[in-house]
Amino acid sequence: MKITLSTLHKMKQESRKIAMLTCYDATFATVEAAAGVDILLIGDSLGNVIEGYSSTLPVSMDDMLYHTRCVARGAGSALVLADMPFGSSQVSPEKTFENAARLMAAGAEMVKIEGGEEMAQTVRFLTQRGIPVCAHIGLQPQSVNVYGGYKIQGKTEDSARRLIQEAQTLEQAGASLVLMELVPAAVAKQVTAAIQVPTIGIGAGPDVDGQVLVLHDMLGLVPGKKRFLRNFMEGSPSIQAAIEAYVLAVKSGEFPTMEHAY
Ligand code: KIV
Repeated sequence: MKITLSTLHKMKQESRKIAMLTCYDATFATVEAAAGVDILLIGDSLGNVIEGYSSTLPVSMDDMLYHTRCVARGAGSALVLADMPFGSSQVSPEKTFENAARLMAAGAEMVKIEGGEEMAQTVRFLTQRGIPVCAHIGLQPQSVNVYGGYKIQGKTEDSARRLIQEAQTLEQAGASLVLMELVPAAVAKQVTAAIQVPTIGIGAGPDVDGQVLVLHDMLGLVPGKKRFLRNFMEGSPSIQAAIEAYVLAVKSGEFPTMEHAY
């Protein structure tokens, strides 16, 4: 059955976990959808894992449009979510709408925007005009130069409170999903309890409504060990089996554990 926003919201109400995975081409889209991945994220992480850049900043609208078209052709019943690349949403709501509309025309069913309360007006503008938005809070890789590195967010009481408030503001503005990257598990749990829309975590612990990983990371293709990761290729006879193992582990609540959390 086709995964829609209503499916995802029902899953939260019924405490069924959502499995999201990044995806950049049609073949993997077919494999991921067949393995039961609910949401295929065309992440701007493609800048790192496909294009070989050291950050997501050089990723262009054209890159995102090309990969969104590829994924949409193979997505089957999975929901297609496309990242708005750096510079495409840090503009006026009108211009952001134009960029998001191009991604929707390429096959996206929702767009993901990095940013907190400062993006609320843009989120409202888009959702009121037919474009569902996933708000990406916590660590926002497009702001790596402001942070001075990829650092855990929401560690102090003040910043944790701000994160919860941000999630609530973005929900009120119309965000359909809230994705949290690299935040302490206890804070992600509080955010998840504070809003009605589903939360998706990466490095945010087990107490969120769903999980996302970068495909190349969970297949063990990227050197270096990150605490929040598991290499699902270990013990799997094929890529298909590794992705199935990921979906099963997320849905059963077996991944992530507190051992993967901050
Ligand atoms: O671009 C991406 O892959 C992402 C995930 C890390 C959530 O935004």
